[in-house]
Amino acid sequence: MRITSCKINHLKNPLGFAMEKAIFSWTVEESTGKRQAAARIRVCCGKETVADTGWENLDSLATKVAIPWKPRTRYVWTVAVRSDAGEEAVSEENWFETGLNSWQAAWIGCEDEEPRHPIFSKPIAPKKEVSSARLYICGLGLYEARWTGEKIGEEYLTPYCNNYHRWVQYQTFDITRQLQTDGILDVELGNGWYKGRFGYHRNPIPHYGNSWKLLAQVVLTYADGTEDIIGTDETWSVTRSNIYFSNIYDGEQQDDTLAPIPAVPARLTDAPEGKLVARSSTPVQAWETLPVKERIHTPAGETVLDVGQNMTGSFRLSVHEPKGTKIHLQFGEVLQGGNFYRDNLRSALAEYIYISDGEPHVLEPKFTFYGYRYVKVQGISNLKPEDFTALVLYSQLPQTGFMTTGSKLVNQLISNVIWGQKGNFLDVPTDCPQRDERMGWTGDAQVFSGTACYLRDSAAFLSKYLQDIASEQAMKNGMVPDVVPGFGCNKCSCAWGDAACVIPMKLYEMYGDKAILEQQFESMKAWVGCIRNLDGDNFGWRKQFHYGDWLALDGSKPDDRLGGTEEGYIADILYRHSVLLVAEAARILGKTEEETYYSQWADHLLQRIRAEFFSATGRCAIPTQTGYLLALLDGNAPDEARIFQDLEENLRNSRGKLKTGFVGTPLLCPTLTKYGDEKAAFRLLLNEEYPGWLYSVKSGATTVWERWNSLDENGIIAENGMNSLNHYAYGAIVEWMFRDVAGIAPAAPGFRKANLCPHMDIALGKAETVFHSAAGTWETAWEILPNGDISYRCRVPFGCEAQLKLPCGGGEYALTAGEFKTVYTPIPLPLQ
Ligand code: BGC
Repeated sequence: MRITSCKINHLKNPLGFAMEKAIFSWTVEESTGKRQAAARIRVCCGKETVADTGWENLDSLATKVAIPWKPRTRYVWTVAVRSDAGEEAVSEENWFETGLNSWQAAWIGCEDEEPRHPIFSKPIAPKKEVSSARLYICGLGLYEARWTGEKIGEEYLTPYCNNYHRWVQYQTFDITRQLQTDGILDVELGNGWYKGRFGYHRNPIPHYGNSWKLLAQVVLTYADGTEDIIGTDETWSVTRSNIYFSNIYDGEQQDDTLAPIPAVPARLTDAPEGKLVARSSTPVQAWETLPVKERIHTPAGETVLDVGQNMTGSFRLSVHEPKGTKIHLQFGEVLQGGNFYRDNLRSALAEYIYISDGEPHVLEPKFTFYGYRYVKVQGISNLKPEDFTALVLYSQLPQTGFMTTGSKLVNQLISNVIWGQKGNFLDVPTDCPQRDERMGWTGDAQVFSGTACYLRDSAAFLSKYLQDIASEQAMKNGMVPDVVPGFGCNKCSCAWGDAACVIPMKLYEMYGDKAILEQQFESMKAWVGCIRNLDGDNFGWRKQFHYGDWLALDGSKPDDRLGGTEEGYIADILYRHSVLLVAEAARILGKTEEETYYSQWADHLLQRIRAEFFSATGRCAIPTQTGYLLALLDGNAPDEARIFQDLEENLRNSRGKLKTGFVGTPLLCPTLTKYGDEKAAFRLLLNEEYPGWLYSVKSGATTVWERWNSLDENGIIAENGMNSLNHYAYGAIVEWMFRDVAGIAPAAPGFRKANLCPHMDIALGKAETVFHSAAGTWETAWEILPNGDISYRCRVPFGCEAQLKLPCGGGEYALTAGEFKTVYTPIPLPLQ
């Protein structure tokens, strides 16, 4: 028996993270027992035990333990588990370490007009043998810290992106290894999200601040137990970098022929507006690198490198060019006519410029990132593919979901969605990583959140995003702006703002930790309260601007982005959906009065919806695919059978093709499956023509497109002013694939119980799935064998149980932990 996945607050061994509470979780593997009989968590601080739960039947998904919190303290913890077969195992030692509670350092700054980015420096000479050293640091807009020239830590784009009006994060680094000798601590600053060109209006006015700011505190603990603290103050000096331009959209520029600027003393400056708090952002690192796949000489005579995958991040490039040579890199997602193309990036320049000092260098931008597959390179005399390496940057999100089917195209689709998540989970869940946008569009995040949680452990990442949703609401009377952090956005829409209710419930369902609902309950209520205010007594919510079924294909005008489903209908239905989610959260949290209140509110909204949008005999007044799908959500339709027939007829009339946008698409296959027409769902999935998921795959996509028709059949990109090739929203199909194709759906929060209900299709042939859920690893595999028989295998993790329902007469089984296998002849044979 082994204990694995030990986490606190959904993080593995967190250093310097915000810790208001301690929620422990773990899983058990290789046990001969079926379930946990008891468990015991012990938390130590040095030699002292500071918490001991004793042997209890603790919840392995989320056990809250009271910790006597002390700042700058490392706690070591273990969990021991006894199984029902009498085995016992203890986890390895895990730890967490708290941040600072009081700062002796002061915020420092410098002349802000000089475009060359500042580098603040301080020589540090440890006086005695150092047993441990920490750096606590926040630099605005972005910072990179170095110890005598060597980058400290492996993170990029610190201190990350959040609603800086309300909070600013500091990070903690273990610098014990570095501080064994004298050296110099340098901190270089860039503009980033805080003070660079970025945001909803894309204008150059920074939304959060104009000035460079740095706060850093080094704490040296000597072997004899004494301490030294070196914090930022006027004794730090500031010189200037050769980077003279940087921002998120436009890239970075560096001139190594510039003369050094003599150091001057740093000056004290004001603290930023937002409260300084320990980090919640999980680390953004170069978790993968990609080599150049092909060096292309284009018909236009350009040199273009292809890394073979649309991705998000940075690069490393070895150069050695004569002094004064200008090296120019531009980044793009797609070639057009075999030539480099970047017009879909709109105003984002997405470039890198470097002027050589004649020496060999490995170039790597520090304060920007790019969404790209192709790089146009100018100014390098003898460019070799091995000189360039792509750095794939994304937040720490261990992969949890793996699925392989019998269809190469579907497998590529899954890969595209995985890359969509990597490319758009860079501290904030964004719409896209390449053009002048890259913001936390709430609607996109909402529809993708289920897929995100199947594919990768997104609990800590999304929980930080939810904190920011709440922080925006606190400034905006409960309103959830379309993008979070707000970056100047002051309006809201249905399906977008509903992220405030949808994502917390999704996290609870996927990870089984009520703390997320406790954290977000006020925010959930505030969102529906905001809708109620906007609604007033004359249906104001229905009437205001909404994005509708964004990018659906059934709009009345060409490139009608809002689609053909009346926005007011979508607004009313999703309003009720959010109110129902609040009622459900209240139930889970044991808030009975609020549960009743919100349930009654939802009942009232149902009457309104039916009065306005359904005829007395059950016809839905909104006869679109998305209209019917929403009618079937939450029991809105008085006569579901009729609506489902209407949906099927609509699909038949559109030759089995979808017309849905952001709102309808995630509901399409799940609804068809739920009401018994999984054949139609598989037809939609496996359709290779436009519009459909595999159309983009067949066109060579390596990520999910923003639009069903981002490229036409000849590979020509639609120039419609809004066209990204890395937009994960339609990747929401993967949630259906895990739930209904692999057939692993949660029947209890965190997958402690699951409904295993696979749906099979002869053209898909098979589906093999491994899913490391919060409760443990589920495996399923089905295959339609050459003789028509079905083989099915699954593994239920320790401590879990499942209700298995096999299609076509395969039977129903109640399963406990362990493996189950069967081969059977389907009756009847409806799998074609
Ligand atoms: C973004 C989206 C977003 C939408 C709002 C676009 O510009 O890229 O994905 O949700 O605007 O309708």
